[in-house]
Amino acid sequence: MANLTPRLGALAFFGSLAGCGYEPEIPVFASTVSADTRPALVEAEVADPDLAAARIGGALGLYFGTPSAPGFHLTPEWIEEERDPADAWWELSDAAVDAVREGNGVRFGAQLGAIERAAEGAPLAVPRPLRGGESWARWQGGFAALIAGEAALTDLHPDSPSLEEESEDDPAFTWGEEAVRFWESYYPTLTESAELYRVRCLTCHGSLGAGDGPTGLYLDPRPRDLRDGIFKWVDVEANRRPRRDDLIQVLERGVRGSAMPSFRRYSRAELEGLVDWVRYLAVRGETEQLAVYFAGQDGAVDPERIETAYKTVWGRWDAAADQVGAVPEDVPRPVDVTPAMIARGAEQFRGALANCASCHGDGGEGNGDAIWEIADDGTRSRRLDRWGHPSQPRNLTAGVFFGGDRPRDLYRRIKYGIGGTIMPAADDSLTDADIWSLVYFVLSLSESGGEPR
Ligand code: HEC
Ligand code: HEC
Repeated sequence: MANLTPRLGALAFFGSLAGCGYEPEIPVFASTVSADTRPALVEAEVADPDLAAARIGGALGLYFGTPSAPGFHLTPEWIEEERDPADAWWELSDAAVDAVREGNGVRFGAQLGAIERAAEGAPLAVPRPLRGGESWARWQGGFAALIAGEAALTDLHPDSPSLEEESEDDPAFTWGEEAVRFWESYYPTLTESAELYRVRCLTCHGSLGAGDGPTGLYLDPRPRDLRDGIFKWVDVEANRRPRRDDLIQVLERGVRGSAMPSFRRYSRAELEGLVDWVRYLAVRGETEQLAVYFAGQDGAVDPERIETAYKTVWGRWDAAADQVGAVPEDVPRPVDVTPAMIARGAEQFRGALANCASCHGDGGEGNGDAIWEIADDGTRSRRLDRWGHPSQPRNLTAGVFFGGDRPRDLYRRIKYGIGGTIMPAADDSLTDADIWSLVYFVLSLSESGGEPR
């Protein structure tokens, strides 16, 4: 069996804020391997499951950091490209950067106000913000020293040497502008986001994201198991990794009909940080699952294969932008919907091609036969979803759509299916017109109190 020491031991880690003095109160996750790993190794008949689990745990530490210092192993290509997924600022779209700045302007209003007053001669008294401990430490270490004349502007931003020139060239340039920029461009570190997750999400989603938090165990539907990167209410094709904006949308909107709340009250920077943490848990979980799968082949936990697993998983996430499920531009407007179109939808719904009724029932109440699995001894049980939970097709007469109730949301669900669930993507031979008729038929089920028009 190969051993992990020499190659993995040499891997570099990104310690973004080492020594800045910020320590999270509680490590963000307690164990290194997830609870499923050892049983999976036993089931795969790996010779020494304890040793294999320990090796996988060790490798995860090398690739994803430790509970109190999470991070990502940087591949040689990333080092060359200066990419570090732990510092996601660089991957935000222009629109997201604007939203972050705007949100920070609101969130740090007190800090920005104090800076403005100081620029007019008042003593500088910037209050500590509610969250964002690392930024506060950096502010105190940097700006306090700067103002006391103990540090130069460039000490604050070692990576932007142009600042000094800027300040020399532009007589109007003051530390105040730089201080404003500091708060406006706030972006949480992975550790800060992990802390917010611990406070706001862990009770449902669990420390490693398995959907097994203390509250989560009692919910139906269960909180998402975040460890495999498969989501339901995103705009990519079913079972593909989501884009950042897909997860932002989920966090802003929440999941209507489930216990998943909306987190709109947090700033865009904090939401982007939560997306970073969700992705961290997913990439870590997927890598762990692949490592277990590889170990099952011959019992070896081989560094080469862990590296392959890590790159494979990142490849899936990096492909997200190309896997968006397109929706046609010309969405039929409700005023254009004719009784003939609804009738056509009803026919499709119960017809052999779309066959929605097999699961949702003829009347759309969610009581079709196709959700049952019949064992050899004749016992019936519900078909399970990807996460092992019994399937419940939506009662379409209730008018509650978890993924949004705009016609385009329903088009996506019907055309591309719902990730992780038994709801399939529509048959290729259904045309867009067929799908729109299904969309409006589904909507008609609740608008008319269950009596199809
Ligand atoms: C009160 C319990 C609860 C809390 C708190 C909670 N969630 Fe959820 N979350 C859920 C449930 C339940 C679902 C599953 C909904 C479904 O299956 O349709 C879910 C689903 C999700 C999904 C997947 C959505 C999809 O498209 O599949 C993400 C991502 C997520 N939650 C992230 C978070 C984050 C991040 C936090 C904290 C900021 C959080 N959740 C807090 C209960 C919760
Ligand atoms: C094999 C079973 C199956 C078939 C076939 C099926 N569905 Fe579903 N459908 C489900 C399940 C299960 C869910 C619930 C998914 C969840 O929330 O976990 C669902 C959910 C839905 C939703 C709710 C989406 C939301 O945002 O809440 C709609 C709408 C829907 N199905 C429409 C259809 C239509 C239209 C068809 C036919 C083209 C169809 N389904 C075929 C099983 C099925």
